[in-house]
Amino acid sequence: MAGHHNNRNDSSQMSAILQHEDLCKNCKKEKIEQEKEQNSKDVTSEASSSSSSSFPSSSFSSSSTSSRPSGNGDVRDRHVERDEPVPTQRQDDAPSCCQLDDLKRLPQCQSKLGRLTFSGSHTVLIDVLAFNQRAGLRPLKGRDLWHSNFVKMPCSSHSVTIVKSPVFKNPTQTSRWEVISKNLGSLAKKTSVDVDDVAEAIMKYNQKYKDKWSFDALASFVKAVPKTENYFDKLFPKIAALALKLPDYVQKAIPLLQRGHTSSITLSQVQISCLLANAFFCTFPHRNTSTPNSEYHNYPTINFSSLFGIWSDRKKEKLRAIMHYFKVVTDEHTKLRGLVTFERRYLRDTDKPDWKSSKSTMPKLFVSCGDIETEGEGMLQVDFASSWIGGGVLGSGLVQEEILFLMNPELIVSRLFTEKLGDNECLIITGSQQFSGYCGFGDTFEWAGPRDDHHRRDDWDRLQRQILAIDALHFKHRRDQYTLNNVTRELDKAYCGFKSHGHSEPDIATGKWGCGAFNGDPQLKAVIQLMAAAKANRGVAFFTFRDEHLKQGLEQTYNLLVAEGITVGKLYGLLKNFCAEQRSDGFHLDLFEFIKNSVRCSRSLL
Ligand code: APR
Repeated sequence: MAGHHNNRNDSSQMSAILQHEDLCKNCKKEKIEQEKEQNSKDVTSEASSSSSSSFPSSSFSSSSTSSRPSGNGDVRDRHVERDEPVPTQRQDDAPSCCQLDDLKRLPQCQSKLGRLTFSGSHTVLIDVLAFNQRAGLRPLKGRDLWHSNFVKMPCSSHSVTIVKSPVFKNPTQTSRWEVISKNLGSLAKKTSVDVDDVAEAIMKYNQKYKDKWSFDALASFVKAVPKTENYFDKLFPKIAALALKLPDYVQKAIPLLQRGHTSSITLSQVQISCLLANAFFCTFPHRNTSTPNSEYHNYPTINFSSLFGIWSDRKKEKLRAIMHYFKVVTDEHTKLRGLVTFERRYLRDTDKPDWKSSKSTMPKLFVSCGDIETEGEGMLQVDFASSWIGGGVLGSGLVQEEILFLMNPELIVSRLFTEKLGDNECLIITGSQQFSGYCGFGDTFEWAGPRDDHHRRDDWDRLQRQILAIDALHFKHRRDQYTLNNVTRELDKAYCGFKSHGHSEPDIATGKWGCGAFNGDPQLKAVIQLMAAAKANRGVAFFTFRDEHLKQGLEQTYNLLVAEGITVGKLYGLLKNFCAEQRSDGFHLDLFEFIKNSVRCSRSLL
């Protein structure tokens, strides 16, 4: 199944990446043309340039007649495909947009958290009393639970394996952790370990997969990295030693964050590093098959076997990021002293907004061509997620979510206990640390070396970084998204993540959520996120990732919506009409034009 996800992601990711790269080229080309045009305009009198954009007819109440007067006095047939960029508007033409500094960020907006506490829905894996007395981070004592509501731990006494015994004729059953300890223990004692040693050890306690798993990618990776940067033979033993600390570091059963429940887990960065070291050495039992009736078929994979298998250039850069993480966390000078919280949120039907009657007006909006993680520091940063959290991070996926998880590898541990997200669910991670930097995207992605994380920590010693994982719908055909049901599903999904929970929370840093591998319409997704943020009463910083065209169109549309005091309810009605028209047409309707035209129509009707 894991491979299945990756394959699906691969093809749609490829088109997303090509689209993205084309965009970059187009963006540059457009920018040059616009500058030339601007220069010529400065020299000659104001040209009466008219955009050849189509103005699809529309109105809030119903679909409309064939053509409408456009903003510049020309009548445009609504079916003419817009083939020129939206007329450039200077930044000061969009007075409604705010500045980035007008938006709320951590730590400024953080309210006092107070003492670390646990509850029936919030499990803390460290000793809370000791933590609150500043006596350090100690694993909370507890008992192993070999139960369907908890993670089945590799070191559990219930985890057994069959081994051939030199003494007894028949194979005997033995503790699987004993076999793991023996093999990883011998690796840990060596000063230098090669990939064959790693593979041999892993297969000793995963014999069922000896003809299925390969370590080509790991072997090719170690060969490909220049000797000067090649510290892996010394690193493998340290990762093995870290993995073997599991019984000491994690003593309390880890609950699964299951579908339909709001629940959370707080654990230390050290505990996360130990769990990930076990994932690296593929020790988690029952996590290697995803056949429909297997126990964890509704959970993402966690063992790194899929990362070590099939070689590709992508794997080289991915493994560089992963190995760097382990190099840091196994370094004796590193002091991992923080906590991380993983919170699954479930939006009950009774909490869903009544979108068609909402009187909320537009939230604060800042738009830039940048990216979320750079300019959106301190804000609730949206992970363009898969419902299988982390997507193809352990496979060949390499777009926004996988890159985020490679730069912040602690996020990968969410795959151990987070069931596939339902339509009304999201995952919020508070406190993950950034270990690396990157450049490029998809096939051009490159690990760009270590990064120090300068974020401050909150009262619970969590780095003040909040990531919101929400999975958009994946549209095989672009047209499929234009139904009110699908629009409402995306509104509810975004609202589930954006909804405030009491304390004054940071505003939202997002972008083209669902508009790459998942084939969404960037304009529609931008409007949907604005509506959800309006309802959640939170501001939005929208990063178009070098898409200048989208930036301009969004600013102009937002300006209009603010000037006209358009409510979320009105916008919902407009989207209903837009979807109806989109489906009835053979041509793509441009939502921003549709909104502009609809507002004009309703203004003329008044
Ligand atoms: N900041 C802002 N925008 C970004 C960033 C970033 N750091 N990275 C990428 N983008 C823009 C790009 O333009 C990209 O095409 O977001 C667009 C959508 O990114 P995708 O990752 O393709 O998101 P989506 O379409 O939601 O696909 C989600 O891909 O990564 C997997 O696991 C994920 O299966 C899920 C699917």
